[in-house]
Amino acid sequence: MSASWIKDAVFYEIYPQSFCDTNGDGIGDIQGIISKLDYVKSIGCNALWINPWYESPFVDAGYDVRDFYKIAPRYGTMEDAVELFKVAHEKGIHVLIDLVPGHTSEQHPWFVESSKEHPGEEFADRYIWTENAFCRGDGMPFIGGETPRDATYIINFFKCQPALNYGYRKINEPNWQQPIDSPAALATREAMKDVMRFWLDKGCDGFRVDMADSLVKNDGDEKLGTMEVWKDITSDVRKDYPDMALVSEWNNPGCALHCGFDMDFCLDWYGNSYSQLVRLYQMDKKGAITRDDSFFKAESQNDPMAFLRDFMPKYEQRGEGLYCMITGNHDCKRTSFNLNDKERKLAFAFLLTMPGAPFIYYGDEIGMAYRWLPTKEGGYHRTGTRTPMQWDDSKNLGFSTADADKLYLPVDPNPGNATVAAQEKDPDSMLNHIRKVLALRKEYADLGAYTDMTVYHAEAGDRLFAVKRGEMLVAVNPGLEEKSLELDGKYEIVYVFGEAELAEDLKVGKQTMAVLKPVK
Ligand code: NOJ
Repeated sequence: MSASWIKDAVFYEIYPQSFCDTNGDGIGDIQGIISKLDYVKSIGCNALWINPWYESPFVDAGYDVRDFYKIAPRYGTMEDAVELFKVAHEKGIHVLIDLVPGHTSEQHPWFVESSKEHPGEEFADRYIWTENAFCRGDGMPFIGGETPRDATYIINFFKCQPALNYGYRKINEPNWQQPIDSPAALATREAMKDVMRFWLDKGCDGFRVDMADSLVKNDGDEKLGTMEVWKDITSDVRKDYPDMALVSEWNNPGCALHCGFDMDFCLDWYGNSYSQLVRLYQMDKKGAITRDDSFFKAESQNDPMAFLRDFMPKYEQRGEGLYCMITGNHDCKRTSFNLNDKERKLAFAFLLTMPGAPFIYYGDEIGMAYRWLPTKEGGYHRTGTRTPMQWDDSKNLGFSTADADKLYLPVDPNPGNATVAAQEKDPDSMLNHIRKVLALRKEYADLGAYTDMTVYHAEAGDRLFAVKRGEMLVAVNPGLEEKSLELDGKYEIVYVFGEAELAEDLKVGKQTMAVLKPVK
């Protein structure tokens, strides 16, 4: 059974580097997060997901963990983390931290030991080592020639991220691939359970789990091995922490929500459901958009059919869990890159009234710009999504008192840049728009996380899209021509963005979303 608190949770994702710097060193910190909790609440969010804050060489922005048990000094101390959990809880905010179970930094002491010519027994097989320094990885990316140990090792993502050994489901190379119940693979599992218990004891409420599908290798599409590992980890840890919540980076609710995760992300992978809605564009070599077929782009001709073909089968496999539509995250370009203010408001109104728990990425609530910047900490094209939060028009837009050249990333120098302070004052701002939509979601239980979504109107070639949420109707028309929706009963309009009118049918104006409730 899922953590009870997620049924009305609205998450706010914080990239700690860039949120708020309180000690003037140019990089965000935990005290900065604490100082902005009331702001987070004011948006309508009541839960946080904080990107990795562990000790790290930061080759992949902290997803290369050097010590799971330490806070990176640049963010503060363990006392700060415990204070954050406590203050957040006092304000009714739950806190998820990022768990990176699949790999560590190549500087992690486990890996340092494991890579010795003669490693000690405990860590010799904590990672996946092949037979010798010239051995290939059986289809997996591998690194050779870097270690005294006469073997190559498997990596998960970047070169700095050696894969932890949770074993193989299908063993092709018996000399070096181990089954998932081998002593070393079981020891890795136990080590990760310890990490989870440690942070739950400190006061966190659960984890966003990085690359949750990656644990067991040669696992096939069914991911039976990885699911078996997660079933064991989650059931074991939940014995002592029944209200822990887990959200997986997996995008496969048929797997993730049947092995102990409460929530799974619907992710931005090119062409899939999420990108059909807001991110279906092509770029030239210079990064300029040459064509944009995103459903929410006003001039696009896209209908919701491709979205539904990808989304619905996955959504139907959610079991008792939540399949969550993100509105953005630290890995994809901000929607401000391709959608203008109105298109974005419409897209967010839709995404935030859909089933699953909503997730808002810091700065998207004010429509912060995506910026082309040189890569920082393994960000590459993601770097421009990770710039400092824009609070007000003081020095560095209120992010930090450091000199500009000391900042983690430059603040947006554009004179038209969005700030929280300016948007607070403007009733039509993105910020106030999001507040309204989240208030609507809170007011009507039918717009909640667990209420069923069924398709009410979707047709090839038609820009009008309508879904039922319980008994309520959400109709959206991102196009530039008015549309008419036949109704199956008597309704009243409870929310409209754009222009909508109830006659016999519902008239849905251009770039409009309307939410209707039945009249009994
Ligand atoms: C997914 C994370 O969201 C991303 O930022 C990271 O680079 C990779 N996993 C590797 O951990």
